[in-house]
Amino acid sequence: MLQSDSASHVIAHISDTHLLGGDRKLFSTVDVASNLSRVLDRLRAGDQKIDALVFTGDLADIAEADAYRWLRGQVEPAASELGAELVWVMGNHDERAAYSRELFDDESDGVQDRVYNVGGLRIISLDTSVPGYHHGATTEAQRTWLTQELAKPAKHGTVLAMHHPPLVAHSPLVRLIELEEMSLLEPIVRGSDVRAILAGHLHYSSFGNFAGVPVSVASATCYTVDLGADKSLLLSAVDGAQSIQLIHLYDDSVVTSVVPADAYPQTAGYPATLRAMAEAMSADEIREMVSNKMSDFNSAEREQSADL
Ligand SMILES: [Fe+2]
Ligand SMILES: [Fe+2]
Repeated sequence: MLQSDSASHVIAHISDTHLLGGDRKLFSTVDVASNLSRVLDRLRAGDQKIDALVFTGDLADIAEADAYRWLRGQVEPAASELGAELVWVMGNHDERAAYSRELFDDESDGVQDRVYNVGGLRIISLDTSVPGYHHGATTEAQRTWLTQELAKPAKHGTVLAMHHPPLVAHSPLVRLIELEEMSLLEPIVRGSDVRAILAGHLHYSSFGNFAGVPVSVASATCYTVDLGADKSLLLSAVDGAQSIQLIHLYDDSVVTSVVPADAYPQTAGYPATLRAMAEAMSADEIREMVSNKMSDFNSAEREQSADL
């Protein structure tokens, strides 16, 4: 009891780091490097096992080589420490040549599609970028390739990671830079072993479904778009509410949870030492202790609340 989980795989999904070279701040104010460092620190400090770190694009704001180098220098050791596979995905702010050279040591300005096998889970990094533009697309050659990849068996199925989400954006402005002709992917995904689609680009957490598959859009670690902004604003980007997501893959379901990029002051909680005590109890005993409103455990919590 109280062990972390029984998920077959856990993915930490991070998006839209928008790093700049020379440790520069985005819009001169947003400390994008520090934001990412804090996220990595939180993952390292947590007790959650992470099987894969998936970064869904817009890694570098203007595709500077030193921004990619800094990113790689930060994330590769963190992934290694966590024992996690590292999966990069191209975004519209990235440039294929710099992305390929700096993150993969590969001189290529071609399409950056890649396939990973993470303990029987296939993760496909699909490049939806269009050179010179911010909207997304896939080519016929990519769709043929994807169909062929998905025809190969994968023990735990597939997670498709792509920058531009196959979802209709809420804002007409954002729709101008969404994934065009997303319906062309529909017959490829429907009926395949794709269990989840992970995306970014929107800079706010969003969830939907495409071809019968759940879609999770991770917000950004740089700045976020505030959907609660005043109607006098067409779009409002704010330096706050940054987050990442944890994707838990169970045998028969996929669960997405949003995790704040920053740690906040704790108002209440339980120490990890409680786990050792719980492990000495039977399943019935611990259920009674935690769930029964009149248990000593819950009485102590009520008294603690009264003290505050
Ligand atoms: Fe972005
Ligand atoms: Fe983007």
